Amino acid sequence: MTRFSTLYAVAAVGLALASPARAADPAKGKAVFQAQCAMCHQVKPKALGIGPSLAGVVGRKAGTLPGFAYSPAMKTFAKPWTPALLGTYIAAPMKGVPGNRMPYAGLADAAKRADLIAYLATLK
Ligand code: HEC
Repeated sequence: MTRFSTLYAVAAVGLALASPARAADPAKGKAVFQAQCAMCHQVKPKALGIGPSLAGVVGRKAGTLPGFAYSPAMKTFAKPWTPALLGTYIAAPMKGVPGNRMPYAGLADAAKRADLIAYLATLK
């Protein structure tokens, strides 16, 4: 039992260290967006590119921007994009929404993802 609690404590410390201690920074997130997302996504409302506009994406239901030809997987997914859900999707698009067609490998860096999502939340 004691050994088990020690293991548990070690795991808890590991988790605490893994979560970023600093606040998410939308200005840094904008730079991440420009480097990794802007070639496919516009920030002007309703604008269509290779991907749908991400203006107002936080709170928008997945697969519902009018005029964009979403994959059947994204249309079926149809959940509102919360910051947590966006995090899962951007980290690993194929795991977040299996079968979707976004040609993006994923952003592994949790701090960069948090910055990026803070920036997406500023897009109205
Ligand atoms: C090479 C092009 C490309 C890149 C790069 C890309 N995306 Fe996408 N994105 C797409 C496509 C295409 C879709 C539609 C996928 C589908 O219908 O299955 C999409 C869909 C999305 C959606 C769902 C939108 C909705 O209306 O439901 C979000 C959110 C998203 N992308 C965020 C991002 C973010 C953030 C980045 C940068 C880290 C990024 N994407 C990089 C092409 C791209």
